[in-house]
Parts: sequence; structure tokens; C-alpha cells
Amino acid sequence: MTAAAADAVGRVHPGAHLLVTGGAGFIGSELVRRILARRDSTRVTVLDKLTYAGNRANLRAVEADREQSPRFSFVQGDIADGALVGRLVADADAVVNVAAETHVDRSILDPEAFLRTGVIGVHILLEAVRRETERAAANQRAHAPRFLQVSTDEVYGDVAEGRSVETDSLAPRSPYAAAKAASELLVGAYRTTYGLDTVITRGSNTYGPHQHPEKLIPLFITNALAGEPLPMYGDGMQIRDWLHVSDHASGIDFALRHGQPGEVYNLPGGTELPNREVIARLLEATGRDWSLVRTVPDRPGHDRRYAMDGAKLHALGWAPTVDFEEGISATVAWYRDNPEWVEAAKGGDWAGYYDRQYGHRLEQGLAADESPVEAG
Ligand code: NAD
Ligand code: TYD
Repeated sequence: MTAAAADAVGRVHPGAHLLVTGGAGFIGSELVRRILARRDSTRVTVLDKLTYAGNRANLRAVEADREQSPRFSFVQGDIADGALVGRLVADADAVVNVAAETHVDRSILDPEAFLRTGVIGVHILLEAVRRETERAAANQRAHAPRFLQVSTDEVYGDVAEGRSVETDSLAPRSPYAAAKAASELLVGAYRTTYGLDTVITRGSNTYGPHQHPEKLIPLFITNALAGEPLPMYGDGMQIRDWLHVSDHASGIDFALRHGQPGEVYNLPGGTELPNREVIARLLEATGRDWSLVRTVPDRPGHDRRYAMDGAKLHALGWAPTVDFEEGISATVAWYRDNPEWVEAAKGGDWAGYYDRQYGHRLEQGLAADESPVEAG
């Protein structure tokens, strides 16, 4: 290990102070719960704007724990707020940027918020880390903060064959994926130009408790439990690689502590399935059948397949551990047991969004058979 790498790893030691942006969301809150539950004196400050997707209830367990709560603080705010970000980064040993607008369908309806957070917000964070890196070089602080950007397999675009490796070129196809790729390019530019200590993780499609019901798995679970239609886009043969949220958080945590400066790491879950297979398992776990499923007009520019090779981070010692079948049944049980959480998530702009996204689609929807109809 080079001296620079050893130093970078040492920086995220037990007792460090981490700034986690987007920590009230699905993956961010799992990461915060995980880090604080280690009880190794690490402190965490969450900066979260509490958009429709952020929910402080996701952090309630931490705030209710007498040992963890003194090591935790919550700041409501925007990563694009330079003054606020500057103050918070000045006191951080590492910044983990989990914050983003995250739903592809919303990015198609209304891309601007994706760029504000994914481009301007990331630029503001990087500027603050750059200032602190310069202060460290001038011996005004002990060391420069590490910056970890949480990214996605969607930056690779549609992968017809094989599995994406970290050196593949970026070919995003949705406004969401384009904003994530832009964030990555900014991180790379700040690494090259100003020598920031950066790490990027690219996680695959994530599922588990606390996920906003706009995404496929929680939408279909909550609709199935309520006996409502399940809108399957197109032929339902699009393939995704599924990663449990605890494995995604463990991968980010691992890369933060063991990743080499300037490197990118894929975090695949290893369960590659067409949507129809996922839907069949959700129907089984919720005790429903195919009569609920509707084939509806497809998402524009819908990527057919994502698939990643995880060998690079596996070689350093990380691997996912949650079996998909077990993960799905526990996830269904969680949504069944937490109706108040679901009700709150389906408050706010949910009815308007649902109508805009699904109203006309469901009007044109057709009953879906269990097996796809063969073309020709
Ligand atoms: P989420 O939508 O559940 O949470 C996003 C959080 O970021 C929310 O708490 C929201 O309030 C906050 N936020 C949004 N804009 C903000 C801003 N400008 N300033 C401060 N906070 C802001 O998302 P998630 O599914 O937990 O995803 C987290 C990260 O992981 C994102 O960067 C996403 O691109 C990436 N990712 C997600 C998946 C997935 O399947 N969910 C897969 C790969 C990568
Ligand atoms: P999603 O959970 O939105 O994740 P992503 O678009 O980031 O992969 O969607 C997963 C897959 O499920 C994707 O192929 C789109 C499909 N899908 C539907 O068929 N119907 C839906 O209502 C949603 C939300 C997604």
C-alpha cells in the first residue's frame, strides 16, 4: 500500500467525524444506522434537504439510542447551499455524498431538480472539500477530508452483453443517469486538478425496508398488499441486478475505509433477473396472482439491461451477503408491518405524481400473462 493510500484509510478511523448527505433517505439512513451501530465512537452529521424522499423517521432508531444519539446530529439543508456546506465540511474527516434525486421516471417528467442536486450540489460539496484539502496542505488542519460519491450502474447505460467494469466508458441514457454521470465527471476532475482524495461507488438496483414506494419493488409490494394494479412497463423483460440495502450500505462503508484514492468501485448484488421474475416473486410473497398485473406503455428510453462485474471490490474483501429470496420476504414483511410509514410516504405530492405517471398508462393497460408473449 502506498503512503498516500495508507493515510487515506487511516483518516476514516474509529472516532472520525463523517458528514453524510442524504442520510434521511433509503440507502443513506441504512448507512448511518450501520456506522453508528458499530459503537466505535465514530460521529455522524447528516445533511438532508428532506425532499419528498427524505424521512426523519428513518433515523428514529439512532435518535432513540442513548449511546448513539450523542454521536449523531441532523441538519436540514441543501447540498447546494455553499455557506452551510462550507461550515459542515470544515469539521468533517470524510464526506459521503448519498444525496440525489433518484427516480428515473421523475427525471423524465421533470429533469431540473436532478441537475441542481447532481451537478451544482456536487460542485458545491467538492469546492468545500477542495478548500479543506488546501488548508490541510497549509497545516491548518490535520488531514484533508476524503470524499466518497455514491453513484450507480445506470451511468454505464444499456448493457446488451457481458458485465460493466469500472474502466468502461459512461453512456447514460436517462436524465437521472446523465446527472449521476455528470457528478462522477466532476469528482474525477477535482481529483485530477486539485488532488482531492476521492472514491466513487457504483451500486446496482437496491431494495429493502424504508425505500420510497415510487420504485418497482416497494410500489408493487404496497399496491399488491392493497389489491391495486401493478403497472409493468412494456414486455417486462428488462433485466436488473438486485442488491439488498444492507449490502449496498456495507459496500459504501467498506469503500470509504479501504478504497484507494481516485478509484471507482462497482457494487453489484449478483442477482440478475428480468422484471417479470421479480414480479412473480413479489406476487408469491404477498399472496396475490397475475390478475393484478397490467402491461402498460413503456418508459421512454428504457434501458433493457444493467449488469456489473464486482471483482475489483471483491478483491479488497467486500461481498454482498443477503440472499434475494430471503431479502424479498423480509422486505414484504416490513412493508406489511409498517403501514404508517407507507401512508406518510404516499402523502405529499404522491397522488399528483401517481396520476401523472400512471393515470394514462393504466387507462391503456392490458391484462398481463405470466409468460411474455413471444414476438412474431
Ligand atoms: P432516496 O431518494 O431514498 O434518498 C435521497 C435523499 O437525498 C433524501 O433523503 C433526500 O431528502 C436527500 N436529498 C435530495 N436532494 C438533496 C439536496 N439537494 N440536499 C440535501 N439532501 C438532498 O435515494 P436512495 O435510493 O437512498 O439513493 C441514495 C443514493 O444512492 C443516490 O445517490 C442514488 O443515485 C444512489 N443509488 C441508488 C440506487 C437505488 O436503487 N436506490 C442504486 C444505485 C445508486
Ligand atoms: P426502478 O425501481 O424505477 O429502478 P431503475 O429504473 O433505476 O432500474 O425500476 C426497476 C425496473 O422496473 C425498470 O426496468 C423499470 C421497471 N418498472 C416497471 O415496470 N413499472 C413501474 O411502475 C416501475 C416504477 C418500474
